[in-house]
Amino acid sequence: MRFLTPLLIACTGAPSSAPEPTPDPKPEAPAPAPPPAPAPTADDVSKDTDISGMSEEERQAFLMKLGEKVYTTGDGGIACVTCHMANGQGMKGAFPPLVGQKDFMGDCKNHAGLIINGLNGEIEVDGVKYNGVMVPQGDALNDLQIAAAISFVRNSWGNDYGYCSPEDVKAARGG
Ligand code: HEC
Repeated sequence: MRFLTPLLIACTGAPSSAPEPTPDPKPEAPAPAPPPAPAPTADDVSKDTDISGMSEEERQAFLMKLGEKVYTTGDGGIACVTCHMANGQGMKGAFPPLVGQKDFMGDCKNHAGLIINGLNGEIEVDGVKYNGVMVPQGDALNDLQIAAAISFVRNSWGNDYGYCSPEDVKAARGG
């Protein structure tokens, strides 16, 4: 009783405006088992995703989503949209278009090399001359991001040139 008495006094002496006691937390619901292969959404495409276990269909969907992210936000690099514009139409005389029949679309290694090493010097696209500088992004972007960015370009806005893999990018880096 030596300790109980002061405790009782402390309790009864509590001001009536004392906050309601917080209700007991509900018992934890069992965590739902994670789905075997969660389909990637636009928000959760990470550049560190391992796509090796994905089906061909999942892989392509993933590359398109991550590619769109790289194209529009940069995802750690410089967003392609800044220069090549929202629909890949570029800006006549300043930034070449990425839509339509283009030589670089043919070969994934060559295409990846353009992103890794950048490009400068005069080129002619659709009869228009360009002599600008595209900054190299081989350090800013990893193999998966570059594979995704070029796959996105190759399959957007009416382009239909197939997909490129991180292995293509690795080969383009000389690895
Ligand atoms: C700072 C502006 C800028 C950014 C950002 C940029 N580019 Fe470029 N890009 C250029 C310019 C300028 C050229 C043409 C260079 C020249 O005149 O030699 C070019 C050329 C290209 C080419 C070759 C076009 C052809 O017809 O040969 C491709 C492909 C390309 N860019 C893709 C991309 C992709 C994909 C990204 C994003 C990862 C990107 N670029 C980001 C400015 C940019």
